[in-house]
Formats: sequence, structure tokens, C-alpha cells
Amino acid sequence: MAKKYAIALIPGDGTGPEVLREGAKVIQAAAQRFGFKLDITEYDWGGDRYLRTGEVLPESAIDELRMHEAIFLGAIGHPDVKPGILEKGILLRVRFELDQYINLRPVKLYPGVDTPIKDKGPEHIDFVVVRENSSGLYTGVGGFVQKGTPHEIAVQQMIYTRHQVDRCLRYAFQCARKRNKTNTLTLCGKTNVLTYVYDLWERAFHEMGTKDFPDIKREYAHVDATTMWMVKNPEWFDVIVTGNMFGDIITDLGAMIQGGMGIAAGGNLNPEGVSMFEPIGGSAPKYTGQNVINPLACIFAGQMLLDHLGEAEAAACVERAGVTFLQSGKLKGLAVSDIQAAGLSTTKIGDLIADYVTKV
Ligand code: IPM
Ligand code: MN
Repeated sequence: MAKKYAIALIPGDGTGPEVLREGAKVIQAAAQRFGFKLDITEYDWGGDRYLRTGEVLPESAIDELRMHEAIFLGAIGHPDVKPGILEKGILLRVRFELDQYINLRPVKLYPGVDTPIKDKGPEHIDFVVVRENSSGLYTGVGGFVQKGTPHEIAVQQMIYTRHQVDRCLRYAFQCARKRNKTNTLTLCGKTNVLTYVYDLWERAFHEMGTKDFPDIKREYAHVDATTMWMVKNPEWFDVIVTGNMFGDIITDLGAMIQGGMGIAAGGNLNPEGVSMFEPIGGSAPKYTGQNVINPLACIFAGQMLLDHLGEAEAAACVERAGVTFLQSGKLKGLAVSDIQAAGLSTTKIGDLIADYVTKV
């Protein structure tokens, strides 16, 4: 009997549903070709539902998600909802409650895609950021004292336990080993100022590396220097591991050097539980319903999803199909204006790539 995987789809807000439709189309094409089944359930969680019902997530949401093998997310963020409500109430809640403690963000420049970095090509830009995804500055620990007065105090704490750091580092070391590229793991921190939290990270990094990963070279870079090297010498990186906040920041830079938000994908992973895959760009509300947004980021997120399910061949095929499209010369760039100039659309790009999936 064919293998079957239960997948939860959360199209979300803005152009999320449009790109996710194409992402789902492409992974379904791959499932068909490689002989497994995706049993898809769609959830209408997002800004529109919140405005209609006053509820961000139904009570059963997290338990329902637990019953799936993976989650495929479009985008969260609605122009009529105060910033933070949906992000915290959906995206961060799912990440936290399902303990998706790794945020995996590949930074890979594909042939045929422009990078803003002069004289750099696909041979220079191919690394992975392992962002800790469950703690740090994102826990919400903190508060106000004397709010609204001239003496107001605001505190937001960066929390890390040894356990949280260790499980993230272990994943990152294993990732470097599995990639087998330069077998280098770079810890990105700020040990010169954040002398508690990143001291813990640095000690844990070297202890684990010495003991369990002697085959992986260890490097260290402060976060500010990391951003500099990412632009100046991106080829120095293989796998970067870092805390939640720094990871958030450097992966937007990573997305830019790999060609933009339109192509950057990420996975929120719980290696022992249910993981969620998403294009990392936002919901681009002003283009909602226009069928002009590039679905590539979502399609590459689909590739990561298949890989995570253990369907490595299908995942590799989705990547080949995406690359075939990028190299076809059909698009001069990844922006909305490029898609329009080429006479293409979100749907047409999805159709083309789904078709390549049956052939390449
Ligand atoms: C991301 C986003 C989120 C984050 C926001 C929307 C909460 O920027 O996935 O990188 O900060 O993690
Ligand atoms: Mn971000």
C-alpha cells in the first residue's frame, strides 16, 4: 500500500492562500510521481477569521495540528489587525506549543537568480542557518513598571536553558555532518556584550563539539561581524547556529543575498514531533487576490516538507523542477513587475513547476 501522510494546510492571510495553493499543487505532483499520498486538511485560521469571529485560534487547533505529519503555512499578517495579535496568536503559538525548537533556513542562490552582491554566484552562496526557535528573547518574559509615566521601566528577557541550547547545537552539528560540505559549524553570538547567554552557548558549543563532533570544525563570529561576512564572503559559511533573535535578523539578510523574500523558505522543526514549513516572506496584503506573487518560496518550503517526511527523492525532484523553471529564462527577476512583464502569474508558475515535477 502507498504511504500516506496527513498534512495540515494553513493558507493564512494576504497572498498566503495564493502561494500555498501552488506549493500544495507541486508537492501533490511529486507525491503522485513518487508513489505516496498526501492527505490534506485545510484550516481557515488567520486575519479574516479573527475579524469575523474575534477568535485567533479555535481551542482545538493545537490538538488538531498534532494529528498531522507536517504543517504547510502560507503567511500570517493582516492589515486590519493590530501587529502582533496574529503573529503571536498563530505563528509563535504553534511554534511554541508544538515545541518546534529549530528554525531551519537554507540560504542558497540558485542559478538564474540575481543576488545584489557583486561578483558572487551560486558557488559562493550556499549555507544553512539553524535558528533556535523556542526561547531567547521570544518567550514573552518581561513586563512594565510604572507604564506611561516618565519613569517607566520595560524589561524583556533573553532566556536560555542549557537544555534548549544543547538540543539546538546538536541539531546544527548533525546538519553540518549531513551536508558534508566543508564540515564547519559557525556559532553566531555576541560574547563580548551578552556575557551570560552567549557564554553559555559558547561553552556548550565547544563541549559538545569536542566530545561528539570532532569531525566538525568549529568557528565563532559575533552577530555584527556575521552580517558583514555574509555580504563580503558568504562562501565562508556552511552551517550557522544562533539564538532566536539573531537568527531572525540574519535570515532576512540571508533571504536578500539568495535573491529575495520571494525565494526564501524555512522550516520550524520539532525533530521528534510535528514540524511546520513556510515561505519566510510576509503576506504582501496589497497584492491579495491579484495572482501576481511569485510562489517559489512556498514551493521550496514544500521541498523542505517532503524532505522532512523522508521523501528525499520527491524533495530533490521539486528542487530540480524549481531550478529548471528559474533557468528557463522565462523570468528576468522575481518581483511582481517581472512576473507581469513575463506574462506569468502565481498560478501559471505553479502549473509550470508542477509539470516539470513530472519530467525532470
Ligand atoms: C519570522 C518572522 C516572525 C519572527 C514574526 C512574524 C513573529 O519575522 O518568521 O522570521 O520574528 O520569527
Ligand atoms: Mn523574521
